[in-house]
Amino acid sequence: MSQASPEPDGATHGDRPEATPECALRLVDLVAGYGSTMVLRNVSIDVPSGEVVALLGPNGAGKTTVLRAASGLIRSSSGSVVLGGVDVSKREPHDRLRSGLCLIPEGRGIFRSLTVAENLRLYLPPWAKRGASYDTAVDLFPVLAERLKQAAGSMSGGQQQMLALARAYLSGAVVVMLDEVSMGLSPIMVDEVFAAIRQLAATGVALVVVEQYVNRALGLADSVVVMRKGEVVHVGSPSQLDEAALAAQYLGADLPAPA
Ligand SMILES: Nc1ncnc2c1ncn2[C@@H]1O[C@H](COP(=O)(O)OP(=O)(O)O)[C@@H](O)[C@H]1O
Ligand SMILES: [Mg+2]
Repeated sequence: MSQASPEPDGATHGDRPEATPECALRLVDLVAGYGSTMVLRNVSIDVPSGEVVALLGPNGAGKTTVLRAASGLIRSSSGSVVLGGVDVSKREPHDRLRSGLCLIPEGRGIFRSLTVAENLRLYLPPWAKRGASYDTAVDLFPVLAERLKQAAGSMSGGQQQMLALARAYLSGAVVVMLDEVSMGLSPIMVDEVFAAIRQLAATGVALVVVEQYVNRALGLADSVVVMRKGEVVHVGSPSQLDEAALAAQYLGADLPAPA
């Protein structure tokens, strides 16, 4: 006979604290802000291993604040950050990094005056697997191979982004969060950086990517989270969305009346 299912398949539970094994990062009901200004209001986001989650929303929606709260740069006043099944909400940023949570901020956070090779060596952390070397990263991001002796800051924005991804890979990151990933990049470089992101995901790394261009994000991501005014207003797969629907969500009640 038919069997009653207590819950629909794939239902998510905002109040379930532990991660499923395949969920690299779970943000659960995060409330956070700056001083007395509350920005995030009960933000919950699941980031599965090996997948790319695009975080979208208009300027000021709270995307960067989500990344800061997840990495511990700002302390959330309630809710939890669960990394690989472990609640890291009380841990310092360096401790979260060590546990595999890597933030690549807008501007990429690389040493511009050092060479590519020096950048990679520096980012090989003391806790990296024995035998790991920057050769591994260069294999994965071959654009860096011919630029090892070049000053990182003299590379194009896309190449710097690739170096930042290589650094994250070397550090043994299990979750990589990139803010404004395609900012300032030429369309060709965006394609290359996105290809590198997919490659990193294929190694099992979970990625959260803040992207300003909706159509690009839909082409890159396995799932899409849309924020507005500090809240998640939509979660779905790219195929469930079209650009027009997303644009309306971006603008919400502020959508101007058609002329
Ligand atoms: N350092 C800060 N101090 C105070 N308010 C901030 C700070 N950074 C961001 N905010 C505010 O938090 C809200 C969300 O900003 P942010 O997370 O940067 O949005 P997004 O990245 O989506 O553009 C905005 O209203 C912004 O003004
Ligand atoms: Mg931002």
